[in-house]
Amino acid sequence: MSHSVSAEAARRACDTAVVVNRHSPEADHAVTASPHPTTEPVRTDRSDHGAWVFDWLDVRSGARTRAGLRRRLVPRSAGAEVLDLAGNDYLGLSRDPRVVAAAAEAARRWGAGATGSRLVTGNITAHTELEGELAEFCGMQSALIFSSGYLANLGVLGALGGPGTLLVADAYNHASLVDGARLSRSAALSVPHRDVTAMATALRDRRHKRAVVVTDSVFSVDGDLAPLGGISAACREHGAALLIDDAHGLGVLGSGGRGAAEAAGLAGRPDVVITATLSKSLGAQGGVVLGPQRVIDHLVDTARTFVFDTGLAPASVGAAAAALAVLRAEPGLAGTVVRRAETLAGRLRAAGLAVSEPAGAVLSIRAPSAADALSWAARCRTAGVAVGCFRPPSVPDHVSRLRLTVRADLTEEDLDRAVRVVVASAPNPTTTGGRT
Ligand SMILES: Cc1ncc(COP(=O)(O)O)c(C=O)c1O
Repeated sequence: MSHSVSAEAARRACDTAVVVNRHSPEADHAVTASPHPTTEPVRTDRSDHGAWVFDWLDVRSGARTRAGLRRRLVPRSAGAEVLDLAGNDYLGLSRDPRVVAAAAEAARRWGAGATGSRLVTGNITAHTELEGELAEFCGMQSALIFSSGYLANLGVLGALGGPGTLLVADAYNHASLVDGARLSRSAALSVPHRDVTAMATALRDRRHKRAVVVTDSVFSVDGDLAPLGGISAACREHGAALLIDDAHGLGVLGSGGRGAAEAAGLAGRPDVVITATLSKSLGAQGGVVLGPQRVIDHLVDTARTFVFDTGLAPASVGAAAAALAVLRAEPGLAGTVVRRAETLAGRLRAAGLAVSEPAGAVLSIRAPSAADALSWAARCRTAGVAVGCFRPPSVPDHVSRLRLTVRADLTEEDLDRAVRVVVASAPNPTTTGGRT
């Protein structure tokens, strides 16, 4: 993105209380709307008991089909016949026998579900123990577990935001941060990707009492890293809090996988809050907010996705705790992931593909169109390699991509196979201009 934020633009945007970026209602509409909205059926007949009320969905899905934007649910096999470069199990722990056994043991002890909100019947000692371990591991004062990373982001933004707060957000932030900003009823400003100057300008010119800068650490599409040091300096200078979504950094970056904030020297700072998921490098399920004790206390009282949600299932808590123990015992896992990603990116680039610069486990390859990305991913799948296919609205700049992830347990042979298949399956450069 090339646009920058002038002081006046920042002020205007601050006044409008909307987030303008790829997840804006406008963007959603562009993807889901019929190109010919007037062709949507309007019926006044009430005699057929509502048989037509969802006809408009067929018009929308037809438009998505023509644009190559239909989604299909493909079951993942329980076996390992397909080389998985699409999942987020970065350390290969979701099937680790220690992790699986801990999940089973927790379910046996506490039951299949948490049975209620943590504030009613759903709180178990395993929750609080895991919170203590996560906080200690990441170097943060306190932690609170949510039932997903998505809900952790909605919860923390709702609790820290509101009408008196300006949220300054990187334009490439994850959808859960965008949705959290919207739900929080804060004034919100989307600034160009990784643009510290734009963030500082927005903070300097704000009329709001409070401000929070919101950013992914490792961005989920290209896998590039936020300039956390510069962002944090801008926050300090302008009296703003910093919220870092470390979903792709925990277990991968920092010493022994302690995360991107630790790597940037920001762990334990009084003005920093971190969110993360337990469903990526920890191989389990759930989300967490880490931060100063008073922030966590505030979340327990006010975060709606904590208060009104059933507590995280015991099996997931047990699995995440066991995965964290593995990570402590084998701190080299984190660095291995990063090296695997660098190797894979380098080899794909050498083959002529347009590959991003991965900071952690995630990398992407640009495709000429949504339809090309889809058929490219399908050819890889047929050849036994599962890759992600990201198309609008999941891509910030509307450029469709293959998205590849690596795991610490990938072998040299796995990497060779991945490169061979992805390159051989690429769209024909003479017809599509797919390679750069
Ligand atoms: C950056 C980021 N934040 C949050 C989430 C949501 O985490 P969860 O899958 O635990 O809801 C994801 C997951 O894809 C993510 O990539």
